[in-house]
Amino acid sequence: MDSIVLFGPPGAGKGTQAQRIMESTGLPQVSTGDMLRAAVAAGTATGIEAKRYMDAGQLVPDEVIIALIKDRIQDSDASNGVMFDGFPRTIPQAEALSEITEVSHVIAIEVPDERIVERICGRYTCGSCSAVYHDTFNPVSVEGICDNCGAGEFKRRADDNADTVLSRLGAYHDQTSPLAQWYESKGIFHVIDGDRAIDEITNDILSALK
Ligand code: AP5
Ligand code: MG
Repeated sequence: MDSIVLFGPPGAGKGTQAQRIMESTGLPQVSTGDMLRAAVAAGTATGIEAKRYMDAGQLVPDEVIIALIKDRIQDSDASNGVMFDGFPRTIPQAEALSEITEVSHVIAIEVPDERIVERICGRYTCGSCSAVYHDTFNPVSVEGICDNCGAGEFKRRADDNADTVLSRLGAYHDQTSPLAQWYESKGIFHVIDGDRAIDEITNDILSALK
């Protein structure tokens, strides 16, 4: 299978859906956001450079992102394609991607701006397996225990605050949303209404991928 792109604004549910469709697609999730956060935590040169952009809710420069992806795509688990989550986010990134691997489907999860802040500000993830939850919309079943792996430690992201979310939304509208037209013209763009129950969205994505 070729690679898939999960596309959409911050908080659209890209990560949530990637974790749910990983088994059906057999493709590993490649989230540039997760890779950057790992680099920040490890204190690498990439992480140190990326952190100031991420904290400000701005996009990290294309050359940093493209280098990360070129490296990741060499791993053995990527040989049959991957599921990109949050990449590409600019036209130069999409152009670079088209030289690296074939993309068969771009799944665009659409959520209105007014829903985004409440989604982002209520998000928490498992510190062990990175499963994504929400205080109100998608809480763990048993208080303090991850449904997926049973661990008991959770994290909140440094950039998940009301101020930074508005910058991230601005970056999405200015720099990322023009990519929709780019992919529409290639006939591989599938729009999914992301303002519904999580399971309904998963079903629609799986249908679009058939
Ligand atoms: P990144 O980590 O990619 O963040 P993002 O795009 O802002 O997206 P999020 O991860 O916030 O949202 P999501 O769509 O994954 O939603 P989730 O499933 O968690 O990027 C972070 C930063 O890194 C960027 O700002 C930038 O600086 C940098 N960066 C990353 N990639 C880059 C690139 N390619 N180029 C340049 N810079 C880059 O869901 C959100 C919440 O909503 C959760 O709590 C969830 O439980 C809940 N939820 C999910 N679905 C539903 C639903 N249907 N109904 C109700 N609640 C729901
Ligand atoms: Mg995400």
